Amino acid sequence: MSAIESTLVENRVFPPSDATVKAARISGMAAYEALCQEAERDFEGFWARLARGNVQWTKPFTKTLDESDAPFYKWFSDGELNASANCLDRHMGTAVENKTAIIFESDDGKVTQVTYKELLARVGQFANALKAQGIAKGDRVVIYMPMTVEGVIAMQACARIGATHSVVFGGFSAKSLQERIIDAGAVAVVTANYQMRGGKELGLKSIVDEALALGGCETIRSVIVYQRTATACNMVAGRDKTFDEVLAGQSSECKPEPVNAEHPLFILYTSGSTGKPKGVQHSTGGYLLWAKLTMDWTFDIKPQDLFWCTADIGWITGHTYVAYGPLAAGATQLMFEGIPTFPHAGRFWQMIEKHQVSVFYTAPTAIRSLIKAAETDEKVHPKNWNLSSLRILGTVGEPINPEAWMWYHRNVGGERCPIVDTFWQTETGGHVITPLPGATPTIPGSCTLPLPGIMAAIVDEAGHDIPNGSGGMLVIKRPWPSMIRTIWNDPDRFRKSYFPEEMGGKLYLAGDGAVRDAKTGYFRITGRIDDVLNVSGHRMGTMEIESALVGKTDLVAEAAVVGRPDDLTGEAICAFVVLKRPRPTGEEAKKIANELRNWVAHEIGPIAKPKDIRFGDNLPKTRSGKIMRRLLRSIAKGEKVTQDTSTLENPAILDQLSETN
Ligand code: PRX
Repeated sequence: MSAIESTLVENRVFPPSDATVKAARISGMAAYEALCQEAERDFEGFWARLARGNVQWTKPFTKTLDESDAPFYKWFSDGELNASANCLDRHMGTAVENKTAIIFESDDGKVTQVTYKELLARVGQFANALKAQGIAKGDRVVIYMPMTVEGVIAMQACARIGATHSVVFGGFSAKSLQERIIDAGAVAVVTANYQMRGGKELGLKSIVDEALALGGCETIRSVIVYQRTATACNMVAGRDKTFDEVLAGQSSECKPEPVNAEHPLFILYTSGSTGKPKGVQHSTGGYLLWAKLTMDWTFDIKPQDLFWCTADIGWITGHTYVAYGPLAAGATQLMFEGIPTFPHAGRFWQMIEKHQVSVFYTAPTAIRSLIKAAETDEKVHPKNWNLSSLRILGTVGEPINPEAWMWYHRNVGGERCPIVDTFWQTETGGHVITPLPGATPTIPGSCTLPLPGIMAAIVDEAGHDIPNGSGGMLVIKRPWPSMIRTIWNDPDRFRKSYFPEEMGGKLYLAGDGAVRDAKTGYFRITGRIDDVLNVSGHRMGTMEIESALVGKTDLVAEAAVVGRPDDLTGEAICAFVVLKRPRPTGEEAKKIANELRNWVAHEIGPIAKPKDIRFGDNLPKTRSGKIMRRLLRSIAKGEKVTQDTSTLENPAILDQLSETN
């Protein structure tokens, strides 16, 4: 049994200590259950109470949930607010005003800090600069920035003026960036000249130039460039301006623009099982409520905490738990520009000690790679640093295997810190199934129980409940405030992807398989049930990678992509390719495989590079021409094919595809 599969037989239980329970906001299981019961009893009243208590409204809402156009649910829809005011202005005149908002550590270890008051001034000034560039409420702004305070400022400034941001992760290619700019109809791009990662200076502005040169981006009127490093970059007269240029002469006071609760705060592109990435559209009111609430519930954030979420702002985790949640909660957070293995694989532990981090939130992949590093080099083992400041640990993005969980618990958490294994998605806006640190007994590999008000369940293909103990599809039966509102430009796809008619059209289909434990009712996520891969916690569609491969028209005739379990990255990408030339072997196969890997990196981004590329004269197909992906998955895993292959047009192909390069 592989380390990852063994999550299904785990039964060690770790209850929170009495002291943790006593000090927690949601203190003990009875308190959790009371909240769940309140939500069951009076669903709308529950959310209205929380939305009034956690969000500052410029115009109070009177309607909590509008289901008249389901599944296009609306929350707090006659209320008005501003997200940036809820993260910054709300703290002015309180003890938080002069508190540090962000401690920023750069790739090369330089530390800078900004207080809430200073951050408000910088956001205000940048918001005025955006307005001076002609950017107004409702416009879309693409942000293609490295992990920097300026990245958060750009997001907050958009929110402040009611512009909808769409952050594109700095590892995506020019083509991916261009597609997102076009789909969003963005009027401006905010970027940096370079980004620093692992001691290397990598061009970002050059990729923006390349994206815009690909064409179709005529909506873009300006490109605003943060000078992260002293190195010059190409600047196009009339279109491109530096941060300094646009900020010059702008006042730091900018009145936050009140927007309707349903106003799109942001669009974030993510992979689906078919076609192009989808623009997940989030609201302002419901989203902000969730960001704040889950900081309180899941991280039990306290005034003295130092919160560190290692996710990049280009992903949903970096939106909710870097750019919005910690600020809405008035927390001090650490933000890190670099990578966990530079200059050595003890960097995270060193930073926890140096900054006295108390709540640490990272991905299972990072943990697994740091375990491996610590096993090969004692000097980067966490035991070399004093991690006693930690009180809560979290993970996100993929299932965590019990071995990694136990290592994290022992070597990082000192057997004292609750681990919150938070299950959620770009679409859910924030945590939906997760332990609460001062209540839920944890079990390695389980995300345990839904948050209060999240009606999670496991159903079969027709949408009928499945008894605990058997696997099925994860759904959420009722809407929740921070849920995806629609897919930008594609409401039809929204309905079909998430509220399929076959299941009655009312259940939110997460796209993950899950099983609830027969005894505890705890959820375990068993992985995606669609053609979405999860590689190092990064979500990718097999179709996207296939179309990138066949886009190499001089070389590739056909391609099929599947995932296979990987001890380090969770899942690895395996591509089966038919070339327009005779099937290569030996050195030639290696060379072409590398060429194709680089091509995919160029088309999508390095994260989409297939680990394994196999060549065949053909692909296994049924007589009707359908590629038999299930067979390919077995082959990719190195399993003996035991499935029925009698319907296969060309059974001999299986041996050929089993050969690795
Ligand atoms: O398969 C689930 C997995 O990540 C998917 C969502 O990916 P994305 O939208 O990129 O958001 C990642 C960060 C929230 C889910 O459908 N996933 C996320 N968290 C967990 C998880 N799988 C198991 N356990 C988790 N804690």
